[in-house]
Amino acid sequence: MHIAIIGYGKMGRLIEAQALSRNHRITGVVDPFIKETQTPGGAPVFKTLGDGGNLGGADVAIEFTRPDTVVENITALVERHIPLVVGTTGWTDQLDELTQLVERAEASLLWASNFSLGVNLFYRIAAFAAHLVDPFPEYDVGGWEAHHHKKVDSPSGTAKTLIEWILSSMERKKTPVWETLHRSPAPEEIHYSSLRVGSMPGIHTVLFDSPADTLEITHTARSREGFASGALVAAEWLVGCPGPGGPAGTVQQGVFTMDYVLKDLLGV
Ligand SMILES: NC(=O)c1ccc[n+]([C@@H]2O[C@H](COP(=O)([O-])OP(=O)(O)OC[C@H]3O[C@@H](n4cnc5c(N)ncnc54)[C@H](OP(=O)(O)O)[C@@H]3O)[C@@H](O)[C@H]2O)c1
Repeated sequence: MHIAIIGYGKMGRLIEAQALSRNHRITGVVDPFIKETQTPGGAPVFKTLGDGGNLGGADVAIEFTRPDTVVENITALVERHIPLVVGTTGWTDQLDELTQLVERAEASLLWASNFSLGVNLFYRIAAFAAHLVDPFPEYDVGGWEAHHHKKVDSPSGTAKTLIEWILSSMERKKTPVWETLHRSPAPEEIHYSSLRVGSMPGIHTVLFDSPADTLEITHTARSREGFASGALVAAEWLVGCPGPGGPAGTVQQGVFTMDYVLKDLLGV
């Protein structure tokens, strides 16, 4: 599979290293802010998508940049018909317009607020736990997330997806509250807060709390490796690559999330 990388930060660099170790080829990297003209893996570096042309004939582009630039990148790549995997968070308020754009262009977009296999299993575990406690109103539901202090969006995209999974599994909880509360939460609210500190790659905790006890489910990312490998698995799935090092096959057309990939992998 031939891959273009958009955004050569922490995630972009890890994706290059993992893609090469899976015998894929990097055909180009786009990042306006880095000085190198070539990556250690030998791929050319372009300052802008415009400079990159067809990105060396990439089968798929993987985008991890910033919330303030991702929409422009998605628009440009959809218009060029390059299948796209997006890991950047903080843009899903524009998902409806971008979905229409992808559908009109008959293009391919796969996005996830979190590509790690563990987090995608965690969504399902938390949703099932929420379903089990739903008939017991003495169990309130809430939680918190923590990330490194350079993360620019808050709450995390993972937190938003996690709460969507929980709300869709419960009758008695309806509304997330992300900000500081200067009052008691209403019974139908889930209070979920964000902390930014130090270097941590990401922690998400869900609490089911009753007067008698607490059930606590936590996902802790130990490094960014799991995000990079998940994004590569997603890219292979999107363009019908049979596995590490394989060529692209039939491209899936439309807008997808990691959930589609997981359903295929898990068969449920
Ligand atoms: N979905 C997931 O599984 C997952 C996992 C980890 C992170 N993320 C998200 O992915 C994004 C990137 O994370 P990261 O840790 O790799 O951040 P990062 O180290 O800051 O990398 C972002 C890179 O994109 C560059 N960039 C900025 N504008 C650009 C543009 N117009 N075109 C191309 N590149 C551009 C940045 O340059 P400058 O640094 O000079 O601005 C930087 O090199 C964040 O939104 C983060 O929340 C998602």
